[in-house]
Amino acid sequence: MQQVKELIPRFTKEQLQERVRALGQAISADYKDKDLVCVCILKGAIPFFADLIRAIDHETMCIDTLRATSYGNSDTSSGVVKFVKDVELDLKGRDVLIVEDVVDSGLTMKEIVQHLHDLGAASVKIAVCIDKRERREVEIDIAYSCYQLNEGFIVGYGLDYAEHYRQLDGIYEVVLANS
Ligand code: PRP
Repeated sequence: MQQVKELIPRFTKEQLQERVRALGQAISADYKDKDLVCVCILKGAIPFFADLIRAIDHETMCIDTLRATSYGNSDTSSGVVKFVKDVELDLKGRDVLIVEDVVDSGLTMKEIVQHLHDLGAASVKIAVCIDKRERREVEIDIAYSCYQLNEGFIVGYGLDYAEHYRQLDGIYEVVLANS
C-alpha cells in the first residue's frame, strides 16, 4: 500500500445527503405499487444503502445483502467476479433494486445483474452513488446515481483504499505520496 499524502474533498456529507434524498423520492414514486427488494452490495455500499433505504417511502420494501468481489487488494478489477455471500430472500417475481457504491469498469455489476435475473427477479435496476465512467468496459444501464465522475481515485462513504477510509462521511480524492 502506497502512502497517502492528501485527501482532497470531492463531495461533502451535505451534498451526498441531498442527492440521496432526491434519489429516495424518485425511487419511492417509481416503485409505489411494486414488490421492492433493495439489495446492498457489500461492503462498499453499506453507508449509501443505510441512507438510501431510509430516504425511500415504501411500506412493504424488503432488504437483502450480496457480496461480490473482483478486486481483492488490487485497484483494478480482475474481471472474475466471486459471489462470496448470496442474497437470502426468494427474489422470484420481485422488483429488485441493486444498491452499489461505485460502478467503474462495470464488470462486477454486469455479473450481479445477471445473477439476480437468474434468481428469477421480475425486474432488476441499479442505484449507484458514483457512476465512474473513465474505465467502463461494458455498457451498464444505471437508473439512479448521485454523481457521475470521469476520473480520480476516490475514497470515503464506503469506498476504500486497501480497506481504509470507508467510514468517512464525505467522498475524497486520494493523492499518493509519490505522485
Ligand atoms: C468495488 C465496488 C464494486 C466494484 C466496482 O467492489 O464496490 O462492486 O468494485 O468495480 P468494477 O465496476 O470495475 O467492477 P470491491 O470488489 O472492491 O468490494 P468492496 O465493495 O468490498 O469494496
